[in-house]
Amino acid sequence: MAPRRSASDPGYGLARGRIFPVERAGSLLNPLRRIVQPPSRTVGRLGLSGGETVLEIGCGPGYFTGALAAGVGDDGLVVALDLQAGMLQLARARTRSRRVRYVQGDATGLPVGGGSIDVAVVVLMLGEVPERARCVAELARVVRVGGRAIFCESRRDSDFIRLGALVALVEPSGFRLESRRGAAWEYTASFLKG
Ligand SMILES: C[S@@+](CC[C@H](N)C(=O)[O-])C[C@H]1O[C@@H](n2cnc3c(N)ncnc32)[C@H](O)[C@@H]1O
Repeated sequence: MAPRRSASDPGYGLARGRIFPVERAGSLLNPLRRIVQPPSRTVGRLGLSGGETVLEIGCGPGYFTGALAAGVGDDGLVVALDLQAGMLQLARARTRSRRVRYVQGDATGLPVGGGSIDVAVVVLMLGEVPERARCVAELARVVRVGGRAIFCESRRDSDFIRLGALVALVEPSGFRLESRRGAAWEYTASFLKG
């Protein structure tokens, strides 16, 4: 369980359950990551066909945002959301596109209309949220019926969530696991909203 946050401890840090700090954003953009977790492979697993509205929750410095913008095409939209303004600044500097809208917000209270999202993408973020069930409930609210919530987890991340634990958390909110791609230690899990 991630630690609760307070005014005196907003919860930033690299340890389990802490919010990844913007000061360390460079490590998320490390060139080595392009080898072990290329954005094109991760986004390729989402099966985007163009025209979708994609919500990227916890976009950080935008490692995946450009590839998502390419995936949704000219008729689509990526809403790239993060808690930290500094992360959004970095992401915006990397990908300036009319296909991307940057939004500062909290995954446990998404500033997004109900049923307005085709695909929600959550990469290495859920483990940083103390109220994970509330985050999943928000996903269930904003993803349209027939849409998908897609989670990418890696054991290289201190907040790694095993697939079994993720399924137990997500399915009670009206999603059903439809596929898992990749290895048990670095997977992409796609859930269909019923
Ligand atoms: C480990 S970083 C991953 C960033 C990006 N998804 C990637 O894989 O490069 C986690 C990001 O989630 C954001 N985050 C953590 N808790 C959040 C919350 N409750 N709402 C929105 N963003 C959050 C952090 O600010 C950070 O940018």
